[in-house]
Amino acid sequence: MFALEYHEATKHHFNRFARSAGYLDWATQPNPFRRYAGAPVTALPRDAVAPSEPYDALFAGAGDAAPISESTVADFLRCSMGLSAWKQYQASRWALRVNPSSGNLHPTEAYVVWNSRVYHYAPSEHAIEERCRLRPPAGTEGSLDGDGFLVALTSIFWRETWKYGERAFRYCQHDVGHAIGALRFAAARLGWGMTLLSECSDDALAALLGLDREPDFLDAEREAPEWVAVVARRAVALDVDSWVVRAREGVWSGVANRLSASHRDWPIIDRVAGSTADPGRARRARAASVCAPGDGHDAGAASELTARTIVLQRRSAVAFDARSSLPFAVFRSMLARLRPGPSPWDAIDWPPQVHLAIFVHRVDGLVPGLYAFLRDPGVLDEWRAALRPDFLWEPIPGFGTRDSGLENVLNDPNDPNDLFLLLPLDMKWHAARVSCDQDIAGDGFFSLGMIARFEPALRERGEWFYRRLFWECGLIGQVLYLEAEAAGARATGIGCFYDDPVHEVLGLTGRDWQSLYHFSMGMPVEDGRLTTEPGYEWEVVSRK
Ligand SMILES: Cc1cc2nc3c(=O)[nH]c(=O)nc-3n(C[C@H](O)[C@H](O)[C@H](O)COP(=O)(O)O)c2cc1C
Repeated sequence: MFALEYHEATKHHFNRFARSAGYLDWATQPNPFRRYAGAPVTALPRDAVAPSEPYDALFAGAGDAAPISESTVADFLRCSMGLSAWKQYQASRWALRVNPSSGNLHPTEAYVVWNSRVYHYAPSEHAIEERCRLRPPAGTEGSLDGDGFLVALTSIFWRETWKYGERAFRYCQHDVGHAIGALRFAAARLGWGMTLLSECSDDALAALLGLDREPDFLDAEREAPEWVAVVARRAVALDVDSWVVRAREGVWSGVANRLSASHRDWPIIDRVAGSTADPGRARRARAASVCAPGDGHDAGAASELTARTIVLQRRSAVAFDARSSLPFAVFRSMLARLRPGPSPWDAIDWPPQVHLAIFVHRVDGLVPGLYAFLRDPGVLDEWRAALRPDFLWEPIPGFGTRDSGLENVLNDPNDPNDLFLLLPLDMKWHAARVSCDQDIAGDGFFSLGMIARFEPALRERGEWFYRRLFWECGLIGQVLYLEAEAAGARATGIGCFYDDPVHEVLGLTGRDWQSLYHFSMGMPVEDGRLTTEPGYEWEVVSRK
């Protein structure tokens, strides 16, 4: 399995980082905005839709599903893949987006297939470019039109390899996971369901989006198909194959822009992209689930801010104050949002593979130390066997008292039994050390490693599942980014960590479990040298 080889080859070690150029070649810095010259462009409506929907709607769905219209699709894209701010430092000015990205390089492009057109989203202008007019549906070929649309993601690997070299494929997949989360939340806020179209192979998706059209790319960087879902107001039946045929027989326009004057090849990236391509799975009867209002998780920190405000203000912290702490109840409710359930977890169609090893530094009422949070408590025995034998495995009750005792907690039907103290120890130094010596991993409330069931998952399902493991991690990260904002704090994804030293801290050997992504949360310290402007000039007055 090449994915296993790739993963091993792109580990960071204390004495050796994964291969990269080792410097930033500014002359070939990729343009962050893909455009299709010659494709008809439609500027999207700018009005905020459902601006007062509460934060909890992201997890439980809005009361009424909004109609599918140009203004709601526009707001869906604006609140998932649009620009969130412009930052400036001296002569440098750069855009941030609603979805985060490793190094702010944004390899992920978004498409919607709606009203019998394939549109590429251009976040810089908040516009859509019409890449294809699908051949009209014939006979029994269905069309979603008023009921929903398809949304799809692609990656331009070069944007990340330019800076990160061989490890970049991992980051592109994290970014896809974050984008899936951003899209799922944007749909939930409007009361829409979003369901992964797992029967659609990567080849079919490439055909649907026109990624396999050689003449449209000429000397431009190619886009790799990643993910496609149906977004709908109600359960819909969909035959994606007929859409692919209609796209092949459609009328195409636009030629991709070239993002860098020259490129450096990274053959290992092409190879892992090929070996993890999704062959698609047997078609299943499709019913897009729409979250029913009220079926969310436990209430978190009741946020006064609306869903839209929190989504648009999400940012990464660059530093934490190394002082503030998080109330235990808020910490616990954040973790509850990571359990499988409705939005955003209905955007993926596999059971949890990723669990957390948490370095708790400053959570009120919790002794600092290493904790395990099991998103599927069924893996408890497997984790106990896999991790260091001297770990305590002291359960931390979600409810009730700390001294309920193991038996009482494990037998309490109301207790989730998913959080355990492994090692009471000040681990600020260790946490920062394994996260590439980054202070953000030691200075916040906590930082964590996302530990995925690894080789067994790939052997059972196939190499294509490698990407999915990173998507699950990105989705966890996206939930935590928003939970941090809702709690008045801030978070940061951490792609740079020393892989095997993390495993060593936990006592993990072999490849059954691997850390795939790190994450940190705390009270941010702003960089006062930067100025911030809104994502779009028409939002200058309406939003701080
Ligand atoms: C997959 C991923 C990995 C990241 N890794 C790091 C990291 O190792 N260190 C860090 O300081 N920031 C990291 N970040 C944060 C990004 O630098 C940040 O998302 C980007 O600059 C965009 O800023 P924003 O999140 O405020 O929109 C990571 C983000 C993602 C999504």
